Amino acid sequence: MLDLKGQHVPFRSEILTALDRLLREGNFILGAAVERFEEEIARYLGVKHAIGVSSGTDAIYLALDAAGVGPGDEVITPAFSFFAIVEAIEKTGAKTVFVDVDAATLSIDPEKVRGALSPATKAIVPVHLYGYPAPMAELAKIADGRGIAVIEDAAQAIGAAVGGTRCGALGDAAAFSFYPTKNLGACGDGGLVTTGDDAFAGIVRSLRDHGQTGKYEHGRFGWNCRLDAFQAAILSIKLKYLDRWNGARRRIASLYRERLGPLDIGLPPGEEEGVTPVFHLFTIRVRRRDRLREHLAAEGIASAIHYPKCLHQQGACVDAGLGGSYPVAEQACAEVLSLPIDPAMGEDDAIRVAEGVESWCEANGYAEYRRRKSR
Ligand SMILES: Cc1ncc(COP(=O)(O)O)c(C=O)c1O
Repeated sequence: MLDLKGQHVPFRSEILTALDRLLREGNFILGAAVERFEEEIARYLGVKHAIGVSSGTDAIYLALDAAGVGPGDEVITPAFSFFAIVEAIEKTGAKTVFVDVDAATLSIDPEKVRGALSPATKAIVPVHLYGYPAPMAELAKIADGRGIAVIEDAAQAIGAAVGGTRCGALGDAAAFSFYPTKNLGACGDGGLVTTGDDAFAGIVRSLRDHGQTGKYEHGRFGWNCRLDAFQAAILSIKLKYLDRWNGARRRIASLYRERLGPLDIGLPPGEEEGVTPVFHLFTIRVRRRDRLREHLAAEGIASAIHYPKCLHQQGACVDAGLGGSYPVAEQACAEVLSLPIDPAMGEDDAIRVAEGVESWCEANGYAEYRRRKSR
């Protein structure tokens, strides 16, 4: 799906030089490399504060903790996304409240959020799934005046924007992941919390470093989840390429949309007025998805399923009493299939993938729509 080795070839020596400098300086914990990356990424995202942490999962947890989420509170999040969010919510001691997703975007459905509100609701964690921004304006309307924090899970959406404002600057706070396969990936784990709120940022900085409020002064219980200096140095280098990579992803996505548009399959939303997605994944929806996957594999084309099981169906959630029925999310699990969208892919590679999907659709009656349209 992604050539991680090849991705680093063009700037391998730049990375090695930066790591060598760190080795010679010995400044391994926080320090200049982390500070520099935090400043650069804050500027890039258009946020006042960016705090480097050890993973996206920790970023969600720290943001919830800093928002004061704890036992007795409820946090609303979509039933269709990655498991890290539930882990983070449950770790605070709050209760996870799942809601269903919108059938067109697979993002959290604001109407379902309204229906799930209770006096205990303390936060909403929408996910910019696959790199497509969640409906933040609607969520802000729901949260405003109710003391509810909106914390973006922007792990898959670095560089995406709504009306020129980047994800990460749309909610009260946001969490990013630098897991190696992300649009901006570290060579290991890493994450980030962003916020415009000075006090909130101060709490997150303290929480990531043993709750320290001064040297050996521990004003609160925190944890050790700092961004590693080596990873920060690598991320500073890779950040310079992010817009180019996201542009390449958008070009591949528009080729896919053009080629696959006439087929009777579901496509992810594209660039609409004011919305700029970053296509972390290009995920189509097909009935008999597993058959198409087999066909692609036989043609040497990679594909993946994000995600085969909803969060409320995971064993841990069932055991915790978080089961339920979320039909749109459940149908998505049965139909989604992610196609390769590596910025290093050439046009020929993308055409080959599209042709693989087309040939299966032709052979299985999924091209009828195209024929009807062209009649
Ligand atoms: C939507 C989403 N949230 C959270 C995470 C967790 O990030 P990490 O793996 O850095 O802990 C990921 C990715 O792994 C993700 O895709």
